[in-house]
Amino acid sequence: MPKKKLRIAVFISGTGRTLKNFIDWIQAGKMSAEIVVVISSAANVAGLQYGEEESIPVEIIERSQYGSLNEFSEANFNVCRSHRADYAVLAGYLRLLEIPKDFENRVLNIHPSLIPAFCGKGYYGNIVHSKVLEYGAKVSGCTVHFVDQDYDRGPIILQKTVEVYENDTPDTLNNRVFAAECLAYPEAIELIAEGRVSVKGRRVRIAPPKDSPRRNEINF
Ligand code: GRF
Repeated sequence: MPKKKLRIAVFISGTGRTLKNFIDWIQAGKMSAEIVVVISSAANVAGLQYGEEESIPVEIIERSQYGSLNEFSEANFNVCRSHRADYAVLAGYLRLLEIPKDFENRVLNIHPSLIPAFCGKGYYGNIVHSKVLEYGAKVSGCTVHFVDQDYDRGPIILQKTVEVYENDTPDTLNNRVFAAECLAYPEAIELIAEGRVSVKGRRVRIAPPKDSPRRNEINF
């Protein structure tokens, strides 16, 4: 049976490398998703070019145009609803959103550290990697998680680790973590498309593949 293609809305605020990675994976036939809209938090965001190049609808929704967090969030999710997006996928998106009931466990994010370390408000970009180096951590990595009402806090879907080297700079560590992100995010989306992801409280369970004999041994 063909896998269900997930309809995803991709949210960006920056260079759009994550968006570009999705486009490449989808074009290579390795990610069962369709990007139905790109939502940007500002007009001058470099990543918008990738949406435009692929003729994906783009929407710019700026926080300053809305009074309350609720109004701002609803403007974003209304765009998701009107494009019939199954999932909102944050890809270098820097604004807090209030997640409405109908998008609970349907908003994803990737963070460039091993949550719960080096995350939360103000931890983005190279700030994260500088803090990892300052602290002297020996491993770092990335985390794909569901988004709840706070920064970097929702249930964790998967994590990938990378080693921290003695001669690392924030840039070199960033490159290594980003390479891990380029695998982790499509992998998480693929698991969801395969219907293998379920959430119970904070715990996310990944079911074995459909044809695995282990599938019946575990009660999901
Ligand atoms: C990465 O650090 C990722 O972990 C975080 O945003 C950065 C990528 O942004 N969520 P972009 O895709 O280059 O705009």
